[in-house]
Amino acid sequence: MRADIVLLPGDGIGPEIIAEARKVLDETARLFGHEFALEEGEIGGCAIDAYGDPLPEKTLEPCRKAQAILLGAVGGPKWDDPNAKTRPEKGLLKIRKELGLFANLRPIKPYAALIDASPLKRHIIEGVDILFVRELTGGIYFGDSRLGEENGEEVATNEMTYRTSEIERVVRVAAAAAQKRKGHLTSVDKANVLEVSRLWRRTAQSVVEKDFSDLNYDVVLVDAMAMHLISRPKDFDVVVTGNLFGDILTDEGSMLPGSLGLLPSASLGEGGPGLYEPIHGSAPDIAGKGIANPLATILAAAMMLRHSLDLSKEADAIETAVENVLNAGHRTGDIAGGGKSIGTVEMGELVLAELQKVAS
Ligand code: IPM
Ligand code: MN
Repeated sequence: MRADIVLLPGDGIGPEIIAEARKVLDETARLFGHEFALEEGEIGGCAIDAYGDPLPEKTLEPCRKAQAILLGAVGGPKWDDPNAKTRPEKGLLKIRKELGLFANLRPIKPYAALIDASPLKRHIIEGVDILFVRELTGGIYFGDSRLGEENGEEVATNEMTYRTSEIERVVRVAAAAAQKRKGHLTSVDKANVLEVSRLWRRTAQSVVEKDFSDLNYDVVLVDAMAMHLISRPKDFDVVVTGNLFGDILTDEGSMLPGSLGLLPSASLGEGGPGLYEPIHGSAPDIAGKGIANPLATILAAAMMLRHSLDLSKEADAIETAVENVLNAGHRTGDIAGGGKSIGTVEMGELVLAELQKVAS
């Protein structure tokens, strides 16, 4: 098959980890007889430097036409000035909104070889397999905001809004995913306080009753969910929630497998390209040192092949290659637990070598 893929390395460690994912994509194309046309674009801080805009039209245009987009990470101290006209993160929010990527899939599944890298006890982690579905183009992230003054003091406001259709479509994605997994769906809200959450709860309930009545469905308040996630994470299968709660809970969840450096994510809309990225950030403290873990980005590339290009055999091969490399004991610094560690390129090369074995 032939596919157009846009690579957006971004800032910090972004270019280093995307370079390794690129090699894996090239090798996958070679091994399985596909043609991936890979084009690079700028997003985030590097795009602000070059164009004064974290997501210029020059970047967005090829993304709209592509089948899929693989993104590294955006942001860094250089662009953190609170008075700056724009910020790298705006580029990320804009690409999500412009491409209608309302469903953010964040799987949390610890690797057997890395259980001891988790800050939690082995018996709590073993067997955890959660898919978070975070709403990504609505809620407080995209509500009206203003900064003003009242009675001589500053007042800041951010509005959280959800409409029924926005809740329905993301709950549908989550419910359909649950049907293909263990059939358990949990919706997370704050319905004891927020009007928005009461609409969320009612809407989710009616979607499930109407079209997914075979699911084992429950609702959990977000504060309780924060607790359950570390006390009994095994009890969850698919978890659907709004933008802000999903942002926070998935960072918490990302600690279950021991490192952010292992977790990919997919952002999907209705048709159109999907956006794939590691869930970690640009890690400016280690950028340019050649020590970043490229595995989350390589796994994001695998997710991309599976979800946007329907190449599940190829995706499986990459995922198996990564698992084999971990099982063989190779570790980047973030998962080495103080033991021997290897660099970004070395890790990428080990995955390539393993991929060749798996595919042959
Ligand atoms: C994420 C990030 C972004 C978010 C930031 C960088 C805007 O934290 O993808 O989770 O909050 O959505
Ligand atoms: Mn986040």
